[in-house]
Amino acid sequence: MNSLPAPIDIHTHLIPEHIPHFAERFGYGGFVRLEHHCPGCARMMKDDVLFREIEANNWDPAARLHDCDRHGVGVQVLSTVPVMFSYWTPGRDGAAVAEFLNDHLAEVVAGNPTRFEGLGTLPMQDTDLALRELDRFERLGLRGVQIGSNINQRNLDDPAFFPIFEEMARRGLALFVHPWEMMGSDDMKRYWLPWLVGMPAESSRALCSLIFGGVFERLPSLRVAIAHGGGSFPATLGRIQHGFDVRPDLVAIDNAVPPTEYLGTFWVDSLVHDPHALDNLLRLVGEDKIAVGSDYPYPLGEAVPGDLVRSMPWSDAVKAKVLRHNAEQWLYGS
Ligand code: CO
Repeated sequence: MNSLPAPIDIHTHLIPEHIPHFAERFGYGGFVRLEHHCPGCARMMKDDVLFREIEANNWDPAARLHDCDRHGVGVQVLSTVPVMFSYWTPGRDGAAVAEFLNDHLAEVVAGNPTRFEGLGTLPMQDTDLALRELDRFERLGLRGVQIGSNINQRNLDDPAFFPIFEEMARRGLALFVHPWEMMGSDDMKRYWLPWLVGMPAESSRALCSLIFGGVFERLPSLRVAIAHGGGSFPATLGRIQHGFDVRPDLVAIDNAVPPTEYLGTFWVDSLVHDPHALDNLLRLVGEDKIAVGSDYPYPLGEAVPGDLVRSMPWSDAVKAKVLRHNAEQWLYGS
């Protein structure tokens, strides 16, 4: 085990300690603020409603590095908390939020460039402004972009997003797709169902949209990773492929390539919490396309990033790929 590399964790979330009062600045509500009510703890408030209680490791690089050292994590790939995306705002305001978050992210990465990498955010609701913000990524030292599984309930095959994906591919930026704004949330408020049922479905929705909409087909150099092991996609791929086979009139209308052909072209993170599911994922996407993702610092994530991977009955060579090399391929393209 000692010969295994320290993981690159491609799925961790960061929030700035101090968030501007966007509601005041823009003149309407719906934004997240942090109420620091005791040392090292804060309430994430969406207007006056409690969204989540969080601790210092959400914003404090030193606290994060302390955890990384304790858990043997080599690199954290940082991205914002999806609730900060602000896709619902007018584009100009969304661009201002993205600019603030990306500046902060770049600062944290620059503070510890060997331990942190950054995935920025974009005002996806406005293609021109998203492209303009992308223009800053190289200067900011950000390696890629995190986007939601849908953009204001529009799917990722929507033509408005294609120029953004095209530009990411041209610039060699990695794309991380994270589930959020879960479908059916209003109909299943109890038992944490939006997180347990809606999130995996959102990841499948995103993947199916990228495949059937022909985004992967048209942009083979775009390096895409999907959170939570691709959600429900891997477990339902047989059904998805069968649907493509029996009803091409419904499914194959924009892309004639079968969905299973794309296995091995996109990355997934390892966050599935079950060895059989992880083994199946390896069988499906291949040993080059799974990377460690922990969802740090949240409780639905993996407490010690890479633990499940290290416990698998795989060779050390395969584990080394999943712990480190596959993430490098995804982030840097080599
Ligand atoms: Co996450």
